[in-house]
Amino acid sequence: MRIIIVGFGNLGRGICKAFVEKADFLRKVHGLVPKVVAVADEFGAAVDENGLDLPQLLKTAESYKTVARYRGGRRGKLVLDLIDEVSADLVFELTPTNIKNGEPGLTHIRRAMQAGKHVITSNKGPLVVAFKELDSLARKQGVEFRYSASVGGAVPVIGLAKKLLSANEISEIRGVLNGTTNYILTRMSAEGVPQEIIIREAQELGLAEKDPTLDIDGIDTACKITILANAVLGMNAKLSDVKVVGIRRITPEATRLAQEAGQMIKLVGIARRDLLEVAPKLVPLGHPLAVGGTLNAVTFKLDLAREISITGFGAGPRETSSSLLGDLIDIHRALGG
Ligand SMILES: NC(=O)c1ccc[n+]([C@@H]2O[C@H](COP(=O)([O-])OP(=O)(O)OC[C@H]3O[C@@H](n4cnc5c(N)ncnc54)[C@H](OP(=O)(O)O)[C@@H]3O)[C@@H](O)[C@H]2O)c1
Repeated sequence: MRIIIVGFGNLGRGICKAFVEKADFLRKVHGLVPKVVAVADEFGAAVDENGLDLPQLLKTAESYKTVARYRGGRRGKLVLDLIDEVSADLVFELTPTNIKNGEPGLTHIRRAMQAGKHVITSNKGPLVVAFKELDSLARKQGVEFRYSASVGGAVPVIGLAKKLLSANEISEIRGVLNGTTNYILTRMSAEGVPQEIIIREAQELGLAEKDPTLDIDGIDTACKITILANAVLGMNAKLSDVKVVGIRRITPEATRLAQEAGQMIKLVGIARRDLLEVAPKLVPLGHPLAVGGTLNAVTFKLDLAREISITGFGAGPRETSSSLLGDLIDIHRALGG
């Protein structure tokens, strides 16, 4: 499979490391030989129609902060040219999330599909802004489109719902879908320390963004609820349809009182056909959603199976490569491989 990777940050590098580490496994178990023929970041690109030397590419990106310094690499905004001109089967779109207009990811994905290339993305922006359009475009162009990593990181929320639970009608999806806020709430409740101090420490540890607003105010979770509503419940939801309250007003005192009552406060996203909501909720200790630290957890309400819950790591380059690689294997199989 010939692959173009657009965006070579945590996840772009993570998937390349997984290709190197798991080359034998992929070939022997899945008959899959991924060949990365082009990689682009914001500053430039590296291209080799015979396949890039991934260990060398990773070294270059670590040392120079851009793939443009790889041998024969080029500087400039080259993504759309690469998508049009490089002979490849599939594009990984792994650029930063922009929930205002989905760019630059939205244009990259449209262009890849128009060029007849399959697409895998972890980028919530294009999915929040234009899910229906992209889903239809993929069908029209006869290409595969997967986005497992966009919700739950390594936790196979979308795959579980769309594949393994497909005998069920799903009446509700309820989830702890943001690791940063879960980490903050977990430490507030364990240590009684104010939010601002934990946020600062989380930033130092790389667990929170420099600007954690989208996490703290519940917008990141609302994006994931919008994606689940559209991709799993078949709705035509917009981000503005989600009622959102973040965790800013949660005090250490509130988390202590909850704990005394055998509960935890969690930022919970809910997707139902009659309600899309993100808000802090009380969750009983021992409930599948009462997960600590940066973990994510999701519970499905189902007509046949009643309730199924799943938990795991919602972020991290190595963990999330599980979903990205899983999507690639899934497409390889869908194509008869
Ligand atoms: N990290 C996770 O665990 C995780 C989990 C699930 C989903 N996601 C989502 O996955 C996406 C990628 O995450 P990440 O952590 O890998 O982000 P990241 O580390 O910020 O990497 C983003 C990459 O995209 C590049 N880029 C920015 N604008 C570009 C453009 N116009 N053209 C080409 N490349 C461009 C950046 O290049 P420069 O470095 O040159 O600016 C960088 O290489 C995001 O949408 C994120 O929300 C991340």
